[in-house]
Amino acid sequence: MSLSFAEEVRKGLSSKPKFLSSKYFYNEKGDEIFQEIMKMPEYYLTRSEYEVFTMHKEAILNLFGGGGKPFQLIEFGAGDGFKTKVLLKHFLKRNARFKYYPIDISGNVLEELSADLKKNFPTLGVKPLNNEYFKALDKLDHSGAMRKAVLFLGSNIGNFLHDQAVSFLCQLAKKLSHEDYVMVGFDLKKDPEAILNAYDDPYGITKAFNLNLLKRINDELGGNFDTTNFKHWPIYNPLTGATKSFLVSTKSQEVFIESLQQNFSFKAWEAIDMEISQKYDLDTIKSLGAEAGLEVAKEFFDCKHYFVNTVFKRI
Ligand code: AVI
Repeated sequence: MSLSFAEEVRKGLSSKPKFLSSKYFYNEKGDEIFQEIMKMPEYYLTRSEYEVFTMHKEAILNLFGGGGKPFQLIEFGAGDGFKTKVLLKHFLKRNARFKYYPIDISGNVLEELSADLKKNFPTLGVKPLNNEYFKALDKLDHSGAMRKAVLFLGSNIGNFLHDQAVSFLCQLAKKLSHEDYVMVGFDLKKDPEAILNAYDDPYGITKAFNLNLLKRINDELGGNFDTTNFKHWPIYNPLTGATKSFLVSTKSQEVFIESLQQNFSFKAWEAIDMEISQKYDLDTIKSLGAEAGLEVAKEFFDCKHYFVNTVFKRI
C-alpha cells in the first residue's frame, strides 16, 4: 500500500538525512514549470530524444510493426506527446496497423492530449487511460493478437534509485510476452558541464521547480515553509552518474505542518535530498535490464550520443 502525500512528507522530513520524493513535483504549477524547463537551451534531454525519433522513426516502425503484425503503442506518462507525435505521424503515413494508448495519472493532461490528437491526427486510433501505469496495462488486451510496444520516455527512469528502477522494470517485464517490446529513454553520461548546466540554470527555473514542492506542502498540508530560507544546490557525480538536487536550509529554523501536527527542525546548512536524475552508460543499461529479466534488442541514439532509446525484450 503506498503512503499518502502527508505520510511521505512526515517520513522524509523525520529521516536523517531528510528527503522528499520528486514524484510530488508534478502538481499543476510543477507541470507548468517542467514545461519551462524543457524549453531551456540548457535542458538538452527533450531535444535529444526528439532527434532520436526524427532520425530513427522508420527503423522503430520496422521493429514494432515487424512482420506486419498489428501493435499496441502504450505510453507511460504520455504528457503532451511532443516527442511521440513524431512517431505517430510517421506510423500513420506508413499506414501501420496500430493503436495508441497514452497512460497518465493526470486526467487533465490526457484530455488535452486527446483533443490535440483528434484535431491533428483524426484517423489515429487512441484510447487514453487515466490510471496508474500497471493498473492501466492490466486492462489491455493480453490475447497476444497484437504486440505491445511500451514507451517510457524522457529519462523518467532516471528519477528512480537503482533498486526502484529494477523493480519497476521487473514488474513491467512480468506483464509482457516474449513478442513484446519496452522502449526506455535514458540520458547518457557526457561532459559533466553540460549535465550540470541542465540542472543549474541561470534563470532560476529548476530552483523554482524544487521550491514548488515546499509551496505544495504549505498549500496542501498547511505547512509554513519560508522558501527564501532554502538554497537550491544541484550536483553531478561523474563516477556514479547521479545528478542530485538538494534544498539547503540557510539558517536554523522550525517548520510546522498543520495536517501532521508536527514541527520539523532544520539546522543551519542542513539539506533535503530532493531528486535524483541518473545518467547512464550502455553497460549499466544492459545490466539494469538483465536484473529485471530484459535484454537489449536495439539502441537508438541522437547525433551527439547524448541520449539513447533502448528497446528491451523479455529474456
Ligand atoms: C522528468 N525528469 C526526467 C526530469 C529530469 O531531468 O530528471 C525532471 C527534472 N528535474 C530537474 N529538471 C528536470
